Amino acid sequence: MEIREAAVVGLGTMGAGIAEVLARAGIGVVAIEIDADALKRGIGILDASLARAVSRGKLTEPDRDAIRGRIRPAITFSDAAQADLAIEVVPEQITIKRQIFAQLDRACRPEAVLATNTSSLSVTSIAASTRDPGRVVGMHFFNPAPVMRLVEVVSTVMTAAGLAAGIADLARRLGKTPVLVGDRAGFVANALLLPYLNHAVRLLETGYAAREDIDLAATAGIGLPMGPLALLDLIGLDTSLSILEVLRGELGGSRYVPAALLRRLVDAGRTGRKAGRGIYSYADGSPAADGGTDGNVGASPAPSTVTLIGPGGSADAELASAAAAAGVNVTRNPAHPSDLVVIAASPDQRVLPTAVEAGRAEQTVGLHLTGSRLAEVVSTRRTTAAAAATARELTGRLGLSAVHAPDRPGFLVGALLYPHLADAVRMVQDGYAAPADVDTAMTLGCGYPAGPFQLLDKAGPEAVLAGLRAMHAAYGDPAYAPPPLLAEHVAAGLGFAG
Ligand code: 3HC
Repeated sequence: MEIREAAVVGLGTMGAGIAEVLARAGIGVVAIEIDADALKRGIGILDASLARAVSRGKLTEPDRDAIRGRIRPAITFSDAAQADLAIEVVPEQITIKRQIFAQLDRACRPEAVLATNTSSLSVTSIAASTRDPGRVVGMHFFNPAPVMRLVEVVSTVMTAAGLAAGIADLARRLGKTPVLVGDRAGFVANALLLPYLNHAVRLLETGYAAREDIDLAATAGIGLPMGPLALLDLIGLDTSLSILEVLRGELGGSRYVPAALLRRLVDAGRTGRKAGRGIYSYADGSPAADGGTDGNVGASPAPSTVTLIGPGGSADAELASAAAAAGVNVTRNPAHPSDLVVIAASPDQRVLPTAVEAGRAEQTVGLHLTGSRLAEVVSTRRTTAAAAATARELTGRLGLSAVHAPDRPGFLVGALLYPHLADAVRMVQDGYAAPADVDTAMTLGCGYPAGPFQLLDKAGPEAVLAGLRAMHAAYGDPAYAPPPLLAEHVAAGLGFAG
């Protein structure tokens, strides 16, 4: 398949990024918007991205000019008449997309390929609005398009043989890695990412954890490049809401029911970075502090002696040696006077019974070390605010970042991660994708340091199973019920990523 010229329809953040990617690969681009004002805005996004690359020394000015020279702005579909490929990148509304495809079908040459960058809508339904659905395919890029390396290539039952393979070759020419998928809501990446992001909003709206703590749990605790709330602002809360609605309609289940807070923020026009305000506020494109975590470090004295209660084993020993190295006295006797009682906690066991048994529940916290430098400070219903603040000082002394979590299954990191991993296992169990494709999609599309199945193997399938069972027992939500395939792998002593 020879692609010399491509039309990009819709120059929002994603469309402008895709036009840039095509032009950087030497392909001529007709950049089409609905009117002159929208076109000016779209070309402005593209120019800002190129200017940023020049200012960072990643692109020379002559190369920038050559890329810009390959882009021809237009406001009519007839300008796409010579294109070998047209990619539609307009908002996620099926009626608009179907209208655009009907128009492209008439405007483009019969041999031209018509692609949609839809993030969740039915490619089949979009294809059905054309006279030749065989030439329609999904070509789903990730934000920021110039950076993220994944392209999901979506075939329908009507897509002509060989077309998906040709588009996969094109994706490689653009410097991307294609993953070939069938036409199911959210494909691989969004079907996994969006319920996880939605769950993070629920944790925020229910007061389970503070905004910055939720994001820190994901970055420092799991190693992801961005926290889920910051990522929602990047993707756009409105886009995220519409993807969730499509997922809920097709896949069902509580994980896809949009959090009320997400809806309210969209109603309020707080749609994320593009609006200057979403879950965070943005001044000059960077998040501005406007409240967030509780427990400022430095507000309480660091403890000089702590009582450490642990089950033994490595987590317990790690805590004891970190405390000793930081000059904090450690005693194992609950009757011995100390400033704080610390229980080396496990996400599938509650802290409270051990705290009560130790006889000093008010002064007791759970501490769970996770990731390379993160401590989850777990407060029970009996822990005082002063004890939680002292625990935070302790973690500072130990050189650890800290997040506060309630005494609930999974604490904070597990509450975010375990259901996300269960969704990935369910996708494989459903026969929609193989573990390797899921891992490729999430590492290249969302910048994960390791894919869900690599994360699952690293955390230990048994530990994830135990965490999910504890969450399911506590909340009764079927979304937390461990997928049979996970239990089977644990019983067989097998990992997933292999
Ligand atoms: N446009 C162009 N380039 C950008 C960019 C943008 N908006 N944002 C960052 N970059 C470039 C920078 O120029 C830099 O390039 P360089 O290495 O050549 O200098 C590189 O990306 C890294 O940028 P920074 O150093 O400024 O920032 P980070 O290292 O923090 O990386 C990030 C930023 C790449 C956005 C990273 O945080 C990340 O991978 N986040 C996850 C993003 C993600 O999950 N995207 C998928 C969302 S889902 C989706 O899009 C599907 C849709 O259907 C909803």
